Amino acid sequence: MAANGWMQTPVGFTVTSTGALANVSPWRAIANPSLPYEATHMVFAAYMVMGFSLAAIYPRRLRRDRRSAYARRGMAVGLVIGLAFTPLQILAGDRLAVQVARDQPAKLAAMEGLWQTQTHAPETLGGIVLADRGETVGGLHIPGLLSWLVTGHADGTVRGLSSFAPSDRPDDLNLVHLPFDLMVAIGLGLFGLALWTLAAWSRRRRLPDGRRYLGAVMLSAPAALVALECGWMVTEIGRQPWVVYNYMRTVDAATTRTGIWLWLVAIVAVYLLLAASTAWLLVRLARRGSA
Ligand code: HEM
Repeated sequence: MAANGWMQTPVGFTVTSTGALANVSPWRAIANPSLPYEATHMVFAAYMVMGFSLAAIYPRRLRRDRRSAYARRGMAVGLVIGLAFTPLQILAGDRLAVQVARDQPAKLAAMEGLWQTQTHAPETLGGIVLADRGETVGGLHIPGLLSWLVTGHADGTVRGLSSFAPSDRPDDLNLVHLPFDLMVAIGLGLFGLALWTLAAWSRRRRLPDGRRYLGAVMLSAPAALVALECGWMVTEIGRQPWVVYNYMRTVDAATTRTGIWLWLVAIVAVYLLLAASTAWLLVRLARRGSA
C-alpha cells in the first residue's frame, strides 16, 4: 500500500535540472500523503470481503434447517465483521475522496464525470462520459453535493476535466466513473443491510431468517468483492496516463522485456489456487456439524 500510495502522491525526492534524482528519503516516500487514507480503506475493504464471505456460506443451510444453531451463529459471526466495517468504510471512503480531490484532481473529475470547473458542483450518479463531446450524458445530478462533499461547502470550487490537457486525463473515463459509482452504490447497499439487521435485531433479538434476508446475505459476498475490484479500477485507471503521478508516464515505464507472460500465468495460477483453497475451506466450514 505504501508503494501504491507513493505512485499516487510521489514525495521524498527532488529532481535536478539534469533530470537526476536528489535528496532521496525512503521514509518520506513510504509515509506519503495517500498512505493513511488508502491503507485504511483497503484494510476495511478486506475485512468486509472476509466477513461477508464467511456469512454468505450459511444461508443455504439455514433455508433447509432454520433451527440450525451452528449455521445461525456462523452467519452472525461473519455479519458482525462485515456490517461493522461498512459504515466505517463509507467514512474512510469520504475522507479518501477529499484527499484525491486535493492531490489528484484529474482523477476526481474522472470519477465524477465532471467537465467544467465550477462552484456548486453536482454529484453525478451514473450516466456515460463522452470524451469526444466533452460532456456526461444521462445519470442523476444532485446539485452542489460534490462541492459540499469534497470542500465542505456547497459553493466550493471543484476542477473539471476540461481544465486538464486531454493527454493528462485517463483514456477511458467510463472505466473510472462507472466503477466509482458501483463501488459507492454497493457500499450504501451494504449499509442498508446493516440497518435491516439492526432493526430486526432490536425488535426480536435474533437475526432474520426470511428468504429475502438470506438472499441478501448470500449476495453480500460477491457484492463486497466487486466493490473492492471497482475500487482498484478507480485508483489505477484514474491515475492514468501516469504510473508515478505527474512524474512518469505509464508508456515510459512499461517494460520491453519479452517472456513476461510466463510470470503473468504463474501469478494468475497462484491466485486461482488460493481462491480455490479458500472456497474449499469455506464450503467445509459450512457443512460442519450437519447430519
Ligand atoms: C460510500 C462508499 C465509498 C466511497 C465514498 C469510496 C471512495 C473511494 C475512493 C475516492 C477511492 C479512490 C482512491 C484513490 O484513487 O486513491 C476508492 C478506492 C477503493 N475503494 Fe472505495 N469507496 C467506497 C466504498 C467502498 C467499498 C464498499 C469497498 C469494498 C468493500 C471499497 C474498496 C475500495 C478499494 C479496494 C479501493 C482501492 C484501494 C484504496 O484506495 O484503498 N470502497 N474508494
